[in-house]
Amino acid sequence: MSLTAHDCAALDAADPLHATRAQFCLDDAEVYLDGNSLGVLPVATAPRLAEAAQAEWGRGLIRSWNTAGWIDQPQRVGNKIARLVGAAGGTLIAADSTSINLYKVLCAAALAQSTEPGRRVILSERANFPTDLYIAESVARQYGLTLVLLDSETIDAALASHLNANVAIVMLTHVNYRTGRMQDMAAVTRRVQAAGALMVWDLAHSAGAVPVDLTTADADFAVGCGYKYLNGGPGAPAFAWVNPRHAALPQPLSGWMGHAAPFAFDTAYAPAPGIDRYLCGTPSVLALAALECGVDTVLSAEALGGMLAIRAKSLALTSLFMQLMQTRCTTFNFTCVTPDNPAERGSHVSYTTTLDGYAIMQALIARGVIGDFRAPDILRFGFTPLYTRYIDVWRAVDALAAVMTQHEWREARFQQRAAVT
Ligand SMILES: Cc1ncc(COP(=O)(O)O)c(C=O)c1O
Repeated sequence: MSLTAHDCAALDAADPLHATRAQFCLDDAEVYLDGNSLGVLPVATAPRLAEAAQAEWGRGLIRSWNTAGWIDQPQRVGNKIARLVGAAGGTLIAADSTSINLYKVLCAAALAQSTEPGRRVILSERANFPTDLYIAESVARQYGLTLVLLDSETIDAALASHLNANVAIVMLTHVNYRTGRMQDMAAVTRRVQAAGALMVWDLAHSAGAVPVDLTTADADFAVGCGYKYLNGGPGAPAFAWVNPRHAALPQPLSGWMGHAAPFAFDTAYAPAPGIDRYLCGTPSVLALAALECGVDTVLSAEALGGMLAIRAKSLALTSLFMQLMQTRCTTFNFTCVTPDNPAERGSHVSYTTTLDGYAIMQALIARGVIGDFRAPDILRFGFTPLYTRYIDVWRAVDALAAVMTQHEWREARFQQRAAVT
């Protein structure tokens, strides 16, 4: 029997995370299911940005690099993110974009493997996020390696046929951006390293969404995104993590902020010890201030059970969504591409459609339910346990059923493609 709106409201009333929603600027008339693409603005962010602009920049001016702690922001915010992904303090830095950080860590990994001339392959998935593949292709070209893309649905089968003595690096996204499929980080890492390759993880759809333990998994490198589940704002700085055993490797973007003594103004580059060398240019102070507010919203859940509580609610939300879709939207030919098995599911759920998925999503957004569309045929719905309610899930499916039964998506206004989908 299908759950009712009343049942969902009761789930919200009993939700141990129900109070965290108040930390976000949300319009209760809308349902926001796109925190996997752009997290919601935290209430604390605008006043913090005003303070950073008016007091720190406006009045403090150049002094604020020292007096307002600007110079330590990448490390301070990095250490906060570290708590969410099982990384030790001093091993993770907040800086640049995910794409740029991926370039840095892939080059470091390629260099580490250059003593193994037989290892000529970077292995990834064809279904990986395009920027990961573009960057890997470029690193492969630079180091004379070959990028090989796995096609298989399950990583296990793909690794069985491709993981051999030629592989230098395996680079995977922990939670796939389209399907929401989550890899077993510890098992895959073990397998890759047993074959003599280095393991690089993209945590863009994991950090703040699912429990991650980089230290226990003993991965080699990881990167991740600040503007999704970390609520850092549009274009927020990303992060890079390096296993301490690789700390002595150089990264290629040898900018002055990664120098051991930036204000010595030496002519010769000498990398800073540890993760600080993964800085390149001047930190984006205002963007880091916003990211810190976003990360703090996730850390605020530590007192309520932390990432385990977030994970429990995430699975409850995604399961409820899949169940309601099954009972209310079966006749519309949506195919769920997200694993049923909770252990293989991240925090978003996706459906393919043979109809015009872009128009369907636009019609849904017009009804105040915001998800996104990923070409060619994916409707994607993200669930952020800090602010998504069970009643939102019910309202989303109810609205989608209405969009379909009333053929709203066929209206011409929903067919006009915007630049960002
Ligand atoms: C898995 C994954 N990696 C990387 C990126 C891009 O990151 P950035 O724009 O910070 O380079 C995204 C963006 O959505 C993503 O989903």
